[in-house]
Amino acid sequence: MTSTPDLAVLVKEALRAFAAATTMEELKAAKVAHVGENSPVALANRGIADLPKEDRKTAGQAIGQARGEIAIAYRSRESEHEAQELEARLLAERVDVTLPVTRRPQGALHPVTTMFNDLCDVFVAMGWEVMEGPEAEAEWLNFDALNFTPDHPSRFMSDTLFVDPPEHHLVMRTHTSPVQMRTLLTHDLPVYIVVPGKTYRADEYDATHLPVFHQLEGLAVDKGLSMADLKGTLDHLAKAMFGDQARTRLRPHYFPFTEPSAEIDIDCFVCHGQSVGNPDQPCRTCKSEGWIEWGGCGVVNPKVLQAAGIDVEIYSGFAFGMGVDRTVMFRHGASDLRDFAEGDVRFSRQMAGGVR
Ligand code: DAH
Repeated sequence: MTSTPDLAVLVKEALRAFAAATTMEELKAAKVAHVGENSPVALANRGIADLPKEDRKTAGQAIGQARGEIAIAYRSRESEHEAQELEARLLAERVDVTLPVTRRPQGALHPVTTMFNDLCDVFVAMGWEVMEGPEAEAEWLNFDALNFTPDHPSRFMSDTLFVDPPEHHLVMRTHTSPVQMRTLLTHDLPVYIVVPGKTYRADEYDATHLPVFHQLEGLAVDKGLSMADLKGTLDHLAKAMFGDQARTRLRPHYFPFTEPSAEIDIDCFVCHGQSVGNPDQPCRTCKSEGWIEWGGCGVVNPKVLQAAGIDVEIYSGFAFGMGVDRTVMFRHGASDLRDFAEGDVRFSRQMAGGVR
């Protein structure tokens, strides 16, 4: 049987134990001893049922009050401990902001990425769309749909990387041109697209060749497009990329998917034509021709449009594709293509001038 004076002692003992606890663990242990299931107050609470009926109410109130006092004392001691622990942690984790920093070298976008961004910006500003396609491509889209004959030499394994097994007719795309057909088969006309992407050929790895390189493809199909629109577009691109003095020229060429076809040259970024007919000042970059090859282009062959189900009486188009690694070389004067593949951040930083 628990009487009121006993309760006062129990409260005092609990309060003393809480006050004496110097760590959170000690406080928790004191809580178990003075509030827990087998603590004296809990036992007293359970004993109420054994009291004569008329004493139960008074005893219940007294025990309830004692438990309340103990609980309040516990919580207040608990928050004291929490505050102390927080303060100790903040002190331990303090950072001296006046200490000298360790400088981390800054990365840079690869110059090809930056070049792709800049090239695409020129076209997006004219309302063109940026498209992408898979790097492992159906042989049909890479060649047949573009009017390459079955015996065209570039199909041979010596030039093209086939994905095993060969009977699946899957190649690592040799150019970004298959995205032309992919777009024509899925988009309504008119179409104005550029396609940045990786391309693959079974080439040597040396200063002027990479087996994995980059192209920017362009395709426009609309009513009444002609070679004049192609020339105007490429001139605009050259000026936007290399400045107002940049000039381009078209040289007749052959591609199965354009007719007529041309190669596009840009005036030499090193000698600007000064070396032409001037043996005292030869230019190694353009071999004293004043022009360097930038890519291929032409009026889309009606056979390609017809393969995509387009009425060639109404629609015509032009297309172009250029080497982006070469474009970086022109713009920055880089001389060895292997630098593009080796992943040395110093090269990227020098070419891109930091993160852009
Ligand atoms: N696909 C060609 C190549 O890789 C480049 C090319 C030429 C793309 C003419 C075109 C084009 O779109 O019209 O050599």
